[in-house]
Amino acid sequence: MRSTGKNIRLTIDNSIINYDDEGAENAPAIIFIHGFPLNKSMWDMQMEALKDTYRVIAYDIRGHGNSDAGDAKFSIDLFVNDLLCLIDVLELDNTILCGLSMGGYIALRAVENYPELFDALILSDTQCMADTPEGKVKRLSAIESIKKNGVEKYADESIRNLFATESFTTRIKEVAAVKNMIVKTSQESLINTLHALANREGTCDKLQDIKMPVLITVGSEDKITPASAAQMMKEGIANSFLKVVAHAGHLANLENPSVFNHHLRKFLFRFSKKQFPLPLKPTITVN
Ligand code: MLT
Repeated sequence: MRSTGKNIRLTIDNSIINYDDEGAENAPAIIFIHGFPLNKSMWDMQMEALKDTYRVIAYDIRGHGNSDAGDAKFSIDLFVNDLLCLIDVLELDNTILCGLSMGGYIALRAVENYPELFDALILSDTQCMADTPEGKVKRLSAIESIKKNGVEKYADESIRNLFATESFTTRIKEVAAVKNMIVKTSQESLINTLHALANREGTCDKLQDIKMPVLITVGSEDKITPASAAQMMKEGIANSFLKVVAHAGHLANLENPSVFNHHLRKFLFRFSKKQFPLPLKPTITVN
């Protein structure tokens, strides 16, 4: 039987994956996948906005939020495996994936390997490219800095890049919440995830195989995965739509939720294949 609400605990190989599952059972299901090093609460505004119409599920990636880290070596493929376990346990089919940044890497990899499980895809502030050699060096220096200076300092440095300049005055609550999410992530999980990100494979050469509808969004001030990376995905995926979200950096869903949600709703309304059951069964006659 389905458990609904917040902070439901699912055990996969002795590790707990913590998730929220809200909205109607037979409505189209959307799974939200958060970015690094955040947690499922980054999607709270989207869950709230959509739960009257859709089944909305958000989970903490292992080692983040309230999900256990487990013993396995972190990789994007391991994170995809956790996602598939969640889909399997919740008996979902025709799922819509919405991933931001690292969540997008996971979503792209899942769609590449298991396209039949998904109806539509939303890629927010993400990219299909693997890390460049310089990018890998930056990850290693971030690891050294975390070991030397601790998580709080890493959080302060990270948020500078995550938000648009104006968000530090207009989105004070969201900036504080994101810092809190980072600080609550253990040093070990931060380091293990940085290794997983550095070692991930690119998915750009597989974009042409994606046949489902795809919404790509990017914050106009995104410094981490800029508009050029979004444009590249748009050009690679035939059935895709690109929306640039103004007044936002890398976390467009938090920095400009009304515009982000508007694009999300419009896309979902047009492209979620599974239709809602009608609340009342009308009698229809054709003469
Ligand atoms: C994220 O937001 O998930 C990260 O910025 C991804 C990355 O560092 O590649």
